[in-house]
Amino acid sequence: MSEQSGSNWDWWSGRKAYNSSHLEIYYAIRQRNLQWLTDLSLSYLSTKRPCSILKTDLWNEAKKDEPFFAEADGVKVGIDVSGSICKMARSKHGGTILITQGSIEALPFASDSFDIVWDISTIDHSERPEKVIDEYSRILKPNGVLLLVAENPLCLSYPVTKIQSLVKKHVPFIAYLHSRILRACLKAELEVIDHFKTNVHLPTFIVYPLEKRGMLERINRGRSTLWNFCKKYSVVIARKKSPMNSMGENESG
Ligand SMILES: C[S@@+](CC[C@H](N)C(=O)[O-])C[C@H]1O[C@@H](n2cnc3c(N)ncnc32)[C@H](O)[C@@H]1O
Repeated sequence: MSEQSGSNWDWWSGRKAYNSSHLEIYYAIRQRNLQWLTDLSLSYLSTKRPCSILKTDLWNEAKKDEPFFAEADGVKVGIDVSGSICKMARSKHGGTILITQGSIEALPFASDSFDIVWDISTIDHSERPEKVIDEYSRILKPNGVLLLVAENPLCLSYPVTKIQSLVKKHVPFIAYLHSRILRACLKAELEVIDHFKTNVHLPTFIVYPLEKRGMLERINRGRSTLWNFCKKYSVVIARKKSPMNSMGENESG
């Protein structure tokens, strides 16, 4: 694990606060979207629950009390590079989530250990996305499922967020093209089941009226190319290929 990266995030964890009341609806929309995405990824699992889930980074569990992971069924393991974030997450969820400090670039877990991996925009904090995806593939069991949610660099709001990040008003992040992530999955023996964009990220005076009229959910889950330029996240759902037996059949299928 890079110590520098861990202490940089310790610093950010003390600096960033989430108490603006005008963003309450935004957080509720985000929560609903993540619940949909995680349920969707679980629906592709062939194993019977309870399953073992690895969630990468615990920022939202520690700082925002985001509940979808803490409330999920199964054996839950969370990893974060920051000691402060691990400590905060442990004090809130230590009874339900097994928390490990470490990096997604070198996961401290045995191969073939998890049924599912949820990376909700942790990969955007690594300079080695291919290495991270290789690691996810390694620790997934055969037929295990990866949900990868990454920043969409083609979203209209991206330049604004990037500038905020450069002047330290927003956490540091990198955004990778969807095509690069898809290529890395294929190279890591992950079969892409689905991929799309989601989570409209525009000023609240546009998003909130759409939400009030009940239109946002349909747009967030829809596949319109035009709306894609307004969506914050690129999503990839992929399955780890199962080894073939001598008869050429899928062994765990
Ligand atoms: C801004 S937060 C992530 C926000 C969030 N996942 C989201 O939904 O937007 C960044 C988190 O990733 C963690 N992190 C950064 N690099 C990491 C790495 N290489 N391995 C594990 N966690 C990392 C940080 O400690 C921090 O808790």
